[in-house]
Amino acid sequence: MTITDFDREELVRQALAARERAYAPYSGYEVGAALLGKSGRVYTGCNVENAVYPLCTCAERVAVVKAVSEEEQEFVALAVATENGGAPCGSCRQTLLEFGGDIVVLIADASGVYRQTTVAELLPDSFSAKHLK
Ligand code: THU
Repeated sequence: MTITDFDREELVRQALAARERAYAPYSGYEVGAALLGKSGRVYTGCNVENAVYPLCTCAERVAVVKAVSEEEQEFVALAVATENGGAPCGSCRQTLLEFGGDIVVLIADASGVYRQTTVAELLPDSFSAKHLK
């Protein structure tokens, strides 16, 4: 599989479906993510909030943790879906960067309208593993 030959609409659809499973009783801001691995497998995630607010986990990071814990570490694309097309937060950008700046990011609203960018574009002038060599 190459970076150009995946079905963007299908990945967005999976992020929208994951959003239905969001647990967001405090913010009410429901987020879904779908992360496409180079194997072709898709790992979904939703935000999972907690009464202890700092323990809230973002949808994108749920998807990354699921994937890595299932032995996938190389990714083609991530779709994220919110009510209003909100972009991934800084923590999620950094988490995604760990696995590659060239990961395509599709940022969708609740109706499925999306824009395309990459992790590197979302997090310029970043700190990464190369600085630790
Ligand atoms: N949230 C995400 O799931 N991903 C992001 O990139 C931004 C924020 C969640 C966290 C919290 O549950 C809610 O959205 C409001 O911040």
